Amino acid sequence: MEDKRFSAAALTLGFCLFVVAARSAFGDVSYSFPEEMKRGSVIGNVAKDLGLDVNRLSARKARIDTEGNRKRYCDINVNTGELTVAERIDREALCGKKTVCVLKQELVLENPLESHRININIQDVNDNTPAFKKDVIKFEINEIAIKGTRFLLEEAHDADIGTNAVQSYSIDQNEHFTLAVSSKAGGRIYCELVLDKELDREQQQELTLTLTAVDGGTPPRSGTVVIHVTVLDANDNAPVFSQSVYKVSLPENSPLNTVVLTVSATDADEGVNGEVLFEFSHVSESDSSTFSLNPNSGQIGLTGPLDYEEESTYELQIQATDGLGLVSFATVIIEILDINDNAPVIVIKTLHSPVPENAAPGTEVGIINVQDRDSENNQKVHCSIQQSVPFKLVPSIKNYYSLVTTGELDRELVSDYNITITASDEGSPPLSSSKTLHLSVADVNDNPPVFEEQSYSAHVKENNKAGSSVCRVAARDPDWRQNGTVVYFLSPSDVSGAPVSSFVSINGDTGVLHAVRSFDYEQLKSFKVLVLARDNGSPPLSSNVSVSVWISDENDNSPQILYPSPEGHSFMTEMVPKAAQSGSLVSKVIAVDADSGQNAWLSYHMVKATEPGLFTIGEHSGEIRMQRDISESDHMKQNLVLSVRDNGQPSLSVTCTVYLLISDNLAELPELKDMSYEESSSKLTFYLIIALVSVSTFFLTFIIIVLAVRFCHRRKSRLLFDGAVAIPSAYLPPNYAEVEGAGTLRSSYNYDAYLTTGSRTSDFNFITSYSDRTLPADLTLKKTHASVEDLEGFDGAGNDSQVWPLGFFS
Ligand SMILES: *[C@@H]1O[C@H](CO)[C@@H](O)[C@H](O)[C@H]1NC(C)=O
Ligand SMILES: *[C@@H]1O[C@H](CO)[C@@H](O)[C@H](O)[C@H]1NC(C)=O
Ligand SMILES: *[C@@H]1O[C@H](CO)[C@@H](O)[C@H](O)[C@H]1NC(C)=O
Repeated sequence: MEDKRFSAAALTLGFCLFVVAARSAFGDVSYSFPEEMKRGSVIGNVAKDLGLDVNRLSARKARIDTEGNRKRYCDINVNTGELTVAERIDREALCGKKTVCVLKQELVLENPLESHRININIQDVNDNTPAFKKDVIKFEINEIAIKGTRFLLEEAHDADIGTNAVQSYSIDQNEHFTLAVSSKAGGRIYCELVLDKELDREQQQELTLTLTAVDGGTPPRSGTVVIHVTVLDANDNAPVFSQSVYKVSLPENSPLNTVVLTVSATDADEGVNGEVLFEFSHVSESDSSTFSLNPNSGQIGLTGPLDYEEESTYELQIQATDGLGLVSFATVIIEILDINDNAPVIVIKTLHSPVPENAAPGTEVGIINVQDRDSENNQKVHCSIQQSVPFKLVPSIKNYYSLVTTGELDRELVSDYNITITASDEGSPPLSSSKTLHLSVADVNDNPPVFEEQSYSAHVKENNKAGSSVCRVAARDPDWRQNGTVVYFLSPSDVSGAPVSSFVSINGDTGVLHAVRSFDYEQLKSFKVLVLARDNGSPPLSSNVSVSVWISDENDNSPQILYPSPEGHSFMTEMVPKAAQSGSLVSKVIAVDADSGQNAWLSYHMVKATEPGLFTIGEHSGEIRMQRDISESDHMKQNLVLSVRDNGQPSLSVTCTVYLLISDNLAELPELKDMSYEESSSKLTFYLIIALVSVSTFFLTFIIIVLAVRFCHRRKSRLLFDGAVAIPSAYLPPNYAEVEGAGTLRSSYNYDAYLTTGSRTSDFNFITSYSDRTLPADLTLKKTHASVEDLEGFDGAGNDSQVWPLGFFS
């Protein structure tokens, strides 16, 4: 108020000078006077201005009237005639926004009654401050509002008029808005807020400006209002990944549902504008089946098996989308770490099977390749053979190995190999695998047939059937098939001048020797055959074995009586001196048997005698001796029927008759006529004489021959073969006489009373002891041992002999 008063006083001074006493044409007066002047302030001297007499004013009851009920603002000083302010004059109250505000008062005088109009032109004083309706103007502006957007601002109100009204507006300095002020028709000034720079909610969510309105008064007055701008969000921000490239490594054996990685993206926007969803973009189907992406959390999980060997790196494009579709991208690189999950694989590239058994050590029989799908150390593979086989692996180029032999192969020992190759890698833990390959060894004909025995000997009974089997030889050949198939042959040779094939044949397949003919022990006692065994290989291999065939004796010859001549042809009569005493030798039966051994062991028996008990015969010697002295009563002629039996099974026997004449004189011979049991013809005596002479002659001849033969034999053993008459005396036993060309005996054959082989040694011994017992003491016995093993020459048999002194028979 003091302000007002002060200004009012100043105005009063100013206006006094400028008050225009604008007298109206008649009786009216006008004044210009500022509002809000102090009560009592002088507006003008009405009396003077109206030409009224001041002194009369009071008399004339000068006063100010208002028209109607209007308020009386002025008073007149009747003493001075001055018009003063009686009431506060507020132009704004009186006239509002009217530019011309005239306060009409009336001066009334009486005596005479006069009325004068007083017009007081109230002049505005800047007494009002611009004011806004509200304290705060609120705006909500979307951040997408473009530059230049205008926002109309509320006007400030100033009751003053003219220049005292609001003349300008201003706002704080700020980076986003400017103020555009313009005047409307009617002179009102209004302003707009102009967006000068786009808003960014994310930077500044709200801003506060002060708008100032200034009027044109002196001094000016101003009013302010706060403009509060709230920036509304617009989806103007794409999501932003925390990294543009995510890198992660993952072992290939990671289990399903492993969390690989979580991507994150932020969106500066609010609400749905800031809600981020993740998804794969441009991901192959296989990749998207291997990995899952949680759209909300951005968590990448493992949903499929990983295999480093198939794919070692995955590159996934991930897209983040906010609520209104703004997207951004990030790359996820997943490196798969190798795990030793692949065992080495062994591949047999080449295998030379079968391998010939004569392959030299170091021969390559196969090529092996090992592979491991892993990488680095997990891929390094070692290959080996654990068994003890004659093979080894030799590393070749890269992952190749040669399988070579390390030693000799022998199909006959090991015909096939199962070679197990083990490969292990260097991973930790290492993996290994193995493979067994089957290698067989091919045969080479490297084994000759081998006979089961060093030599064979076979025993065959004589008189065998032709075709009967003699023995069987067998040879083994371990080679394969035809290389081991054995065929038997006889090696061509001669047996006593005839080809061996005329004696035996062999079955080439079975090795069974067959007799081709019936053997006769008396002709051939043994022979040797060489059998060849040959395999069918090419070239064939062969070996041989000797087979000794021994022919054994059968009792197929009956004893032959050499002396006396066989019954019916004998006319020989032995003379027995009458003085012959008991025990004296009378005669001797000589018999032979072509067989040998037991079969040739002869025994002599008395079958019938004229005078039983007079004569006895040595069972083994065949010697007829006196059993007792001859008595006078004994008949002169004595006949003895004797039998000679061999020891074979069954035994064979022959009988003969010995005629004895007990007489001291040959002159008694004619009596012999009566001797014949058979009452033979008168010629008997004659024949007997002839026989006696013949026998004597024969003995003589025989001795000569024996001597000759022995002599010749010493010189040339073959003589025994060649000689037409070859009965060596040296061979005869003591109780045998030898007769040239007798009976069935072949001249070229020599008897052997004693078997020459060792197998018959027992027989031999028996006879020896027997001989020792029965032989007279003056007899000398000489044995000559021949080589029994010598089977090559049959003449050798003749050497095995006992030589008896010729004197024995005399
Ligand atoms: C090799 O293996 C085969 C089949 O598994 C078997 O029949 C044969 O007897 C084996 N050979 C050797 C020498 O082990
Ligand atoms: C027999 O051996 C020969 C080499 O000596 C060989 O070539 C052949 O294959 C063998 N035969 C069989 C059936 O193994
Ligand atoms: C029999 O074998 C021996 C040695 O094994 C040999 O020296 C000989 O020549 C062979 N004989 C024949 C007839 O093959």
